[in-house]
This record gives sequence, structure tokens and C-alpha cells, in this order.
Amino acid sequence: MSAKKAFSDISRTVSGLTSEIRREFSERVSHIGSRVEDLMAEVMAKVEKRFGNEDEHVIFRALPEPAELGMTLSDVLRARATQRTFSDEPLSDQDLSTLLWAADGINRPNGRRTTPSALDWREIDIYVLKANGIWRWVPEKHGLIFCHLDDVRSETILAEPTLHIAPVHLVFVADKAKTDTFLSRLGTKVAAKVRHESWSVEKLEEMRTRSMIIDAGVKVQAVYMAATAMGLSCVARTGFDREKVESLLRLGSEESAVAIATLGYRPNSILDAFR
Ligand SMILES: Cc1cc2nc3c(=O)[nH]c(=O)nc-3n(C[C@H](O)[C@H](O)[C@H](O)COP(=O)(O)O)c2cc1C
Repeated sequence: MSAKKAFSDISRTVSGLTSEIRREFSERVSHIGSRVEDLMAEVMAKVEKRFGNEDEHVIFRALPEPAELGMTLSDVLRARATQRTFSDEPLSDQDLSTLLWAADGINRPNGRRTTPSALDWREIDIYVLKANGIWRWVPEKHGLIFCHLDDVRSETILAEPTLHIAPVHLVFVADKAKTDTFLSRLGTKVAAKVRHESWSVEKLEEMRTRSMIIDAGVKVQAVYMAATAMGLSCVARTGFDREKVESLLRLGSEESAVAIATLGYRPNSILDAFR
């Protein structure tokens, strides 16, 4: 098929879908007010379904406003490095807030984030593993939903003894179901109709997989940069048993654990690393 013919096919298909776009847009506008509460209820229902509600007395923990980071971008870029030694001191809510805001904070009235995502899918969920259990970050509420009391931090570590001391691990989970948006469906419909070799359903699927990994990666880098400005130790990790971590988090079939960022204060003395 010539490029010209493909282009005219695409134009025809897209214009045929215009009324669908208008309808979806007006539905979205009318729902926008109740969206945050709906979303919160949805996340809570999901968490309860997976983890049960045996600890229902602790459900949501609001985090403080993120702190201002004073280091210049040039200095952050000069100083960023992986640090694998930690103090076992728990990370303060203030520092956790600043890290999570850097990774996935809402920085505009339209709900968009401090880090980009393909087609604005916002499909990366962040789970926080601490001594007091598993939590899930809720950017719309700038806080954490409690999931489960177990301390599973060590189970995410393969063969790196110093990481057992770290107080916090952020697990970046790609939820493929969230990539099934109107725009993605439109792209797939066009691809199915046009049947152009550069825009096939298979190629779109491959782009989707690639995008989800990058979307997690940009969050990892944002965490590295914030940690640098805050003087924290940080290690990005893909070295973990993915299936095990997914089972610890009771993830569904459309969700996958892509990366972990391990964080904490720098050790006070060399002995901290061997405690
Ligand atoms: C995608 C990714 C996966 C990584 N996985 C691990 C890991 O499993 N364990 C680990 O100790 N470091 C891991 N690292 C950290 C790298 O080893 C580290 O970034 C690299 O050695 C360069 O050092 P630097 O970050 O100080 O520049 C990972 C880094 C990235 C970006």
C-alpha cells in the first residue's frame, strides 16, 4: 500500500470516529467532579479485595506536602549515583512524600504528573514496602492506602546483603488495563482498518510494552534525582524475582512489577551496613 493511500485511509477512518470522540469527551467532562472520589473508592475496593480488611483501622495515611528541593539541577546531575549502603532509620513521612511527589506527583490542574507517560496513561502504580507493611501511593490524595501488615522487604532482595537494611522499597507496577484508553483503542481500530505494515495491531502492542517499561524508568530516574537532592541512598533494581514480588503484592494478570527503587538515609557509620 502506498503512503498516500495509507494516509487517506487513516484520515477517513479518523474522521469517521469524530462523533465517538465528541461523545466520550462530553461524558468525561460531566464525570470530572466525582472522579477523584470514584478513583479512591476504586483503589480501596481493589486493595480490600486482594488483601482483605483485617486491619481496617488503618486505611489511609495522608502525607505532608513535599519539601522544596534546593539543589540545582546541574548539581543533582553531577552528584547522582547509586548508593548501596543505608542506615536502618525509618524514612520520615516528609521524605517519603517528597520522593513520591517527584516520582508521581500531580503538578497540574488537569491531573498530569511530575513524570511523563505514553499517551498520558498514568499506568504505573507505586507500592511502598516498609517495616510496617505494604502501602499503595495514591497521587490524587497525596497519601498512602494501607494494604497489608507483612514486612516483605527482604523477600524482594536477591543477593545484596546491604539492601536488607534499607527502610523503604518503592515498587513500580505497570497496570496494562490502564493503557486501554480511548486514544489507544482509536489507534488499534485505525490499525485494524488500515492494515499498513508500519501501523499494525502487533506493532502497537509492542509499542505499548516498550512504553510501559519507559514510563516506569522515568519514575525511577525522578526518584534518583530527588534522593540525590535529599542526600539519601538510592538503588534502582530490576534484580528481583518478579513473580514472587507480584505474588507478594497480589497483583492481577494485567499488572507487572517492572522495577524497584530501594531508599534510605546514608549510614551513620560503616558498621550500619553490616548490622
Ligand atoms: C534498570 C536498572 C536496573 C538496575 N538493577 C539493579 C539491581 O538489581 N541491583 C543493583 O544493585 N543495582 C541495580 N541497578 C543500578 C546499576 O547497577 C547502576 O545504576 C550502575 O552500576 C551505574 O551506577 P550509577 O547509578 O552509580 O551511575 C540498576 C540500574 C538500572 C537503571
